[in-house]
Amino acid sequence: MAAHADEYARFAAYYDALLNPFLDRVRERVARICRGHGAARVVDVCCGTARQAVFLQRHGIACVGADLSFSMLKAGAGPDKSACEQTDARACMGPDTRTPGRAAAGEPARDGAGSGKRLPGLVLADAVRLPFADNAFDAALLSFALHEKPRGTAHAIFAEALRVAPLCIITDYTMAERNLELPGQWLMAVPERLVGGEHWRNYRMFMQSGAVQGLLFRTSGVRLLHREHLFMGGAGIFVLEREEAGQEPALQ
Ligand SMILES: C[S@@+](CC[C@H](N)C(=O)[O-])C[C@H]1O[C@@H](n2cnc3c(N)ncnc32)[C@H](O)[C@@H]1O
Repeated sequence: MAAHADEYARFAAYYDALLNPFLDRVRERVARICRGHGAARVVDVCCGTARQAVFLQRHGIACVGADLSFSMLKAGAGPDKSACEQTDARACMGPDTRTPGRAAAGEPARDGAGSGKRLPGLVLADAVRLPFADNAFDAALLSFALHEKPRGTAHAIFAEALRVAPLCIITDYTMAERNLELPGQWLMAVPERLVGGEHWRNYRMFMQSGAVQGLLFRTSGVRLLHREHLFMGGAGIFVLEREEAGQEPALQ
C-alpha cells in the first residue's frame, strides 16, 4: 500500500473522549440496525478508533475495521489494541489482507489470553481500495467519513463499500429538509470549522453538493431501505441496498 500521511495523528488521542458522548448512542443504533437486517459480518470502513466494533460485538456481530490512520486504529479504549502497540503497522491487521478474497470477515481474531473473547480485525487500508473480496461482508458501515473527502473520493469509497457488502449503512451529515432542521445543520458545521483546513473545505463542498442526499441522488444502482434523523436533523442514518448483485453503483 502506498504511504499516506496520517491525517488523524493530531486528533487520535482525543477523538474518543470528545466524540463518544455524542456518538455512542448512534453507534448503538447502527448496531441494532445491523442486527435487524441479520448482518453477522460487518466491515466498518473508515472505522477510526473502531469504537463501533464494541457495540456490534455486544449484539453478537463480528466486525472488521478498516482505516488509513494507524494513529486512529491504535487509539481509544474500545476493543483490544495490544497488537497495534507494536511499531509495525501491519501487526494490527486482523484478517489476511494480502490476498483479496481471504479476508476472515466472519472470523475476527481472538485475544491472546485464550478467553475466546471476540476481537475485531483492524486493517490499515485505503477505503477506495479495500483488501476484501466482493461480498465478503453482510454490511459495510460508513460513519462520518464521506463528508471530509473530495466528492470523487467519497463516491469511490461508497462504491467500494457496496462492492464488499450488499448492504451499506451511511451515517453522516445531511441537508436540512425542513426549517426545523436548519439549526441542526448549522450546529454540525461547528466541529468541522474548528478542525479547519482541507477537512473544512471538503465538508463545505460536501454540503454544497447536497450532503448524503446529494451523494445518493447522484448514485444509481442503490435503493434506500430506511432512514433515520439524528442531531435535530443535522445528520442521518441511511440504510442502503445494492440493487443488483455485481452491479457497481455509478456516478451520474
Ligand atoms: C471522522 S473519522 C470517523 C471515524 C469513525 N467512523 C467514527 O464514526 O467515529 C474519519 C475516519 O476516516 C478515516 N479515513 C479518511 N480517509 C480514509 C481512507 N481513504 N481510507 C480509510 N480511512 C480513511 C480517517 O483516518 C478517520 O479515522
